[in-house]
Amino acid sequence: MDQASNLRRLVVESASVKRTKTIAVTSGKGGVGKSSLAVSLAIALARDGSRVTLLDADLGLANINVILGIIPKYNLYHVIKGKRKLKDIVIEVPEGIKIIAGASGFHQLANLDMKQRGDFIEAVSDLDDDDYMIIDTGAGISQNVMSFVGAADEVVVVTTPEPTAITDAYGIIKSIAAQTPDKPVRLIVNRVQTVSEGKRVAQRVINIAGQFLNIKVENIGFVFEDMYVSKSVRNQKPFIVSYPKSKASICVSIIADRIANKEIDGKRGTGLTGFFRQLFRSQEEESE
Ligand SMILES: Nc1ncnc2c1ncn2[C@@H]1O[C@H](COP(=O)(O)OP(=O)(O)O)[C@@H](O)[C@H]1O
Ligand SMILES: [Mg+2]
Repeated sequence: MDQASNLRRLVVESASVKRTKTIAVTSGKGGVGKSSLAVSLAIALARDGSRVTLLDADLGLANINVILGIIPKYNLYHVIKGKRKLKDIVIEVPEGIKIIAGASGFHQLANLDMKQRGDFIEAVSDLDDDDYMIIDTGAGISQNVMSFVGAADEVVVVTTPEPTAITDAYGIIKSIAAQTPDKPVRLIVNRVQTVSEGKRVAQRVINIAGQFLNIKVENIGFVFEDMYVSKSVRNQKPFIVSYPKSKASICVSIIADRIANKEIDGKRGTGLTGFFRQLFRSQEEESE
């Protein structure tokens, strides 16, 4: 961490009670760039001096492993089952962030008894020193995705300019509005060709959401279509690391700055314990 980021960290910390802010990155349609953006946003935030954990909650696809070229041995399932401690499954990658591999048995959370739950929440609270937990969710409005979205402090909805992606983004925003109308929702338009395309698409989604769903969606930026993104996926090294001066990297750094600057007001998240408590609750409701 350089001197400027150290100083920045000190100033931010002096103004706030520390609690991890949880941000779910989601989308209506799959393949719009959630995992690519979640990984590079996490790295960009870490470079600015924040402590960041990335939770891969896209059950089954586990894209984060591929993007970072890692093969986690254990995941949250092992923790939930009591076979591993949380600290044993957290992977620190050279890019300066921590990765937690999700579990395809998240619904198992509902089956834990009070003691197991307590143990789990306590284990998670070890990570509450972090500034952010970014959660890469699956696409669409499945109960599973919605429970992560519901438990997070904030949601970032990713879309591309494709009409089908926009329609599906509207769909997920509609579900969020119905489930948790007060949840701050932000939008990233990914794979834009021009600045004006980015603005136009964002404005369209924001207008429709405001008009028909009465929910305020905030535009936090766009990311250019950039061949270095797919090239990096193939090389299993995040574009923000391999190609820091690429168009996509510059856009992601700007978005990370916007996210980090919102912290200056001292408003912190509900923390990881709050997040997982809420997740337990929603899994319980689902199994009822
Ligand atoms: N800004 C971009 N420019 C070019 N290609 C992109 C961009 N964002 C994503 N992609 C491509 O789209 C593919 C799907 O992205 P991914 O992050 O896996 O989406 P999701 O997690 O939403 O399913 C990636 O393999 C990458 O090649
Ligand atoms: Mg993904």
